[in-house]
Amino acid sequence: MDIHDERILILDFGGQTTQLIARRVREAGVFSEVHPWDMSDEALRAFKPRGVILSGGPESVVADGAPTVPLSVFELEVPVLGICYGQQAMVHALGGKVVAAAGEAEFGYAEVQLTRACTLFDGIRDREDRIDVWMSHADHVVDLPDGFAKVGVSANAPCAVIADEARKHFGIQFHPEVTHTVQGAEILSRFVRDICGCSGLWTPGNIIEDAVSRVRDTVGGDKVLLALSGGVDSSVVAALLHRAIGDQLTCVFVDNGLLRLGEGDQVMKTFADNMGVNVIRVDAEARFLDALAGVDDPEKKRKIIGGLFIDVFEEEAERLTEVSWLAQGTIYPDVIESAASSTGSAHLIKSHHNVGGLPSEMRLKLVEPLRELFKDEVRTIGKQLGLPAVMVMRHPFPGPGLGVRILGEVRKDFADTLRAADAIYIEALRRRDLYDSVSQAFCVFLPVKSVGVTGDGRRYAHVIALRAVETIDFMTARAAQLPYEFLDEVSRAICNSVPDVSRVVYDVSSKPPGTIEWE
Ligand code: XMP
Repeated sequence: MDIHDERILILDFGGQTTQLIARRVREAGVFSEVHPWDMSDEALRAFKPRGVILSGGPESVVADGAPTVPLSVFELEVPVLGICYGQQAMVHALGGKVVAAAGEAEFGYAEVQLTRACTLFDGIRDREDRIDVWMSHADHVVDLPDGFAKVGVSANAPCAVIADEARKHFGIQFHPEVTHTVQGAEILSRFVRDICGCSGLWTPGNIIEDAVSRVRDTVGGDKVLLALSGGVDSSVVAALLHRAIGDQLTCVFVDNGLLRLGEGDQVMKTFADNMGVNVIRVDAEARFLDALAGVDDPEKKRKIIGGLFIDVFEEEAERLTEVSWLAQGTIYPDVIESAASSTGSAHLIKSHHNVGGLPSEMRLKLVEPLRELFKDEVRTIGKQLGLPAVMVMRHPFPGPGLGVRILGEVRKDFADTLRAADAIYIEALRRRDLYDSVSQAFCVFLPVKSVGVTGDGRRYAHVIALRAVETIDFMTARAAQLPYEFLDEVSRAICNSVPDVSRVVYDVSSKPPGTIEWE
């Protein structure tokens, strides 16, 4: 049986946490995909879902032009779970009534009291039928469509849980996908496994096996080229392709002089030495630094780095004439975001140009084996494929590398100073067990000088800023509250051992209004 045969359709009404629903469903062992709420009836039927989940969303179902549930969802005769806006939209579509309740919004923690038996909650009730949930709504359901019954209430939602057991339609006014809803993952698992009847084929082992056989079918005996950056996604693609097609894979690793300390050697050691992957290392430091000399505008720097990367990569690709496929580390959130932009759904779109983004007119055909995976799935299969945990659990690193962490003009001496400081900071985070508690941490080089004093006199040297953020999706973030003693220790270590630094500061800005990187 194909691991995609059991699949759950998630219709997206523009909620902030829709992708989390898909992740939780997959964690329950069932493949799921997110599609815009207005997907065509034809596409909906062709999807052949075992169940449908209607996501939350920011609008009011009673407003003119509000998104609606296509009636063909109910014609599929499969279980349906409406979450928050999805519940209200289902009620609205089936002839019930929703009202906009002024002044009675419920945001954040709430308690739901289950008032009668419901298959969705079998085995997961606790504390005398009360469950702790996370809510975010203003409107609520007042009249139920035929066949539905009230199953649970909360302080401000008389229909916090509703069910039509005969048709297996359920509506919940809270968000089971967020961790604040303590039993949320269990509720979603109960829905997809027990109510929709999926057996749980979506496991890391099966995902790898499926990807390996699909890559083999796609590329046959052809040769494949991969731009290996050392980041999580391209590293996992390399490991996966190596498992699938062995020597047919060649990786190109461009050392642009803007990598972290020892990164080039580490990539070569992991892939070429330990795993036996063909890796061509191109030393292009001088070429990149020459092109960047005298340039201080961040966007110009990004363009130069991106353009040069493509030039270097294409030169290598030209040399490997027998190669006909180009592998890329595109992952599922990239796919959802670009699909949402084409349908005009209410998603924020990342505007970053990944340096790995290669020109479309290349003669090579594309193979993207991670296209349907979330980042956490990519990490899990990376570990299972034998990549070291330090590599797959790494914080993200921007394509332009240290080029956007050296403010203004990029110079080799600045890059060396930044590399040395950053290595001290990251090593200290790991040693103090703080690395995994933050989402991204790094140093920034400030090309201004300040006066410091050392044992033998005054020192007029540069400033290093430390950054550490906590975030779920990197679209918003807050500065991590690292312990003061830790910052003190890192500051002293950097000033004492990196010659060109006299001062260390900590960046406490959130995003917005700041961004995570400084350029
Ligand atoms: P910002 O600075 O926009 O960053 O808050 C959000 C996330 O994106 C990364 N980032 C980039 N990644 N090319 C990339 O591949 C870029 O030009 C780029 N700029 C920022 C950043 O490190 C953070 O994880």
